[in-house]
Amino acid sequence: MSGDTAHLHRDGIPADTLSKVDMYLDSFCLSEEKLQKVSAQLRKDMIRGLGKHSHNKAPVKMLPTFVRATPDGTEKGDFLALDLGGTNFRVLHVRVVEEEQKVLKMDSQICAIPKEMMLGTGEQLFDHIAACLSDFLVSQDLKGQTLPLGFTFSFPCEQKEIDKSILIRWTKGFNCSGVEGEDVVKLLKEAIHRRGDFNIGSVAMVNDTVGTMMSCGYRDQSCEIGMIIGTGTNACYMEEMKNVKRVEGEDGRMCINTEWGGFGDDKSLRGIQTEFDLKVDETSINPGVHTFEKMISGMYLGEIVRLVLLKLTEEKLLFEGQISEALKTPERFETKFISEIEEPDSGLENTQRILTKLGLKWNEVDSRVVRLVCDTISSRSARLCGAALATIANHMRICRGLDHLKTTVGVDGTVYRKHPNFSEELKETVRSLASKCDITFLVSEDGSGKGAAMVTAVAQRLALQSRL
Ligand code: GLC
Repeated sequence: MSGDTAHLHRDGIPADTLSKVDMYLDSFCLSEEKLQKVSAQLRKDMIRGLGKHSHNKAPVKMLPTFVRATPDGTEKGDFLALDLGGTNFRVLHVRVVEEEQKVLKMDSQICAIPKEMMLGTGEQLFDHIAACLSDFLVSQDLKGQTLPLGFTFSFPCEQKEIDKSILIRWTKGFNCSGVEGEDVVKLLKEAIHRRGDFNIGSVAMVNDTVGTMMSCGYRDQSCEIGMIIGTGTNACYMEEMKNVKRVEGEDGRMCINTEWGGFGDDKSLRGIQTEFDLKVDETSINPGVHTFEKMISGMYLGEIVRLVLLKLTEEKLLFEGQISEALKTPERFETKFISEIEEPDSGLENTQRILTKLGLKWNEVDSRVVRLVCDTISSRSARLCGAALATIANHMRICRGLDHLKTTVGVDGTVYRKHPNFSEELKETVRSLASKCDITFLVSEDGSGKGAAMVTAVAQRLALQSRL
């Protein structure tokens, strides 16, 4: 096997089985040299995405966000926030308190979005969002007020202004008709207008990566990168305005939403995609879109593992060749199982419980092989993310003409938070690929909710300052 595999759990698997299993796992193991190549390609694609003319065809979109400043600690006020695009849809009431430099979540409510609605019409979706907002305002006794609203909408959007944001395409599990190519703020306002029972103030559109960066920015003002590794994966960072060729002005910085999930959509990652990655892409609702994300994020990791287990069973390397109904069924192997299986102490026990639940007849060696498969696939994900983050940090350092860059990354997402050794492996990769950068990691506290309020608050502060 090539690549950094020293840490993988290989004990207790007989040598002949191991060598056969390795034939399938080898293609998931990326050496440092390969990761360096991935990083060099991503840097090229980032520069293409920033360019005025090269942008249109670039797989990494590098979207200007119109967020020009991180918090300075003087923001304050009450805000509403909406959060769509992660695990749940949420409505929040957030208070920013200047004296204590605190962002307080006053209250929040989760509203389920049924799967049919994720694939229905845009009008239905936005009517539902407006209805949830209305219920929440009633329950909070806020209906008479006109509060500013931060809308965390975690999909690639071409932002024209902080309150004008055109959806480029749906990603993850969503595919509502009539929204791509439209201004999401307009669709929200129209739905609120159709109801006619409440009003909202100014709106700020926020990607979850940006919310994450901004929510950490109140605690640590050197936080200039936001990263999500959850249902999807993405990152944003503060870029020099002179490099943001599609927005006028040379001074200061602007936050760029990289949409790194789209890396590889021009087939540049073909050399490292495995047969299992290709299958996951083919059977997804958006084939050919978000190649990098499909190798990394929570929506897909479980499915990659399932396909590998299926293959190993067909090859009689697992479960005596007996395939269960559950193992044949897409999405039945959940990504959260991977974290449970890799738990350092209870991992093997968890594996056996999960395999039983999936209707599989396992023996001790089977459970060890399953753990090795999970470990290999989550490791690849962590290392690819680490390589991508190192690329951003190196790029920032070079653009600022620094020998050494010290910065903070705000992070969120279930994969990063819940997996037992994902974050360590990611950090190790960043250290080796960005050795001249000193990066602090801060786990965001509700970036999509509080961060959206923070973006709205900063936009208000800047608007006030420019009027003075
Ligand atoms: C997907 C979306 C992106 C979002 C990420 C994490 O990649 O396209 O906008 O930030 O998921 O939620």
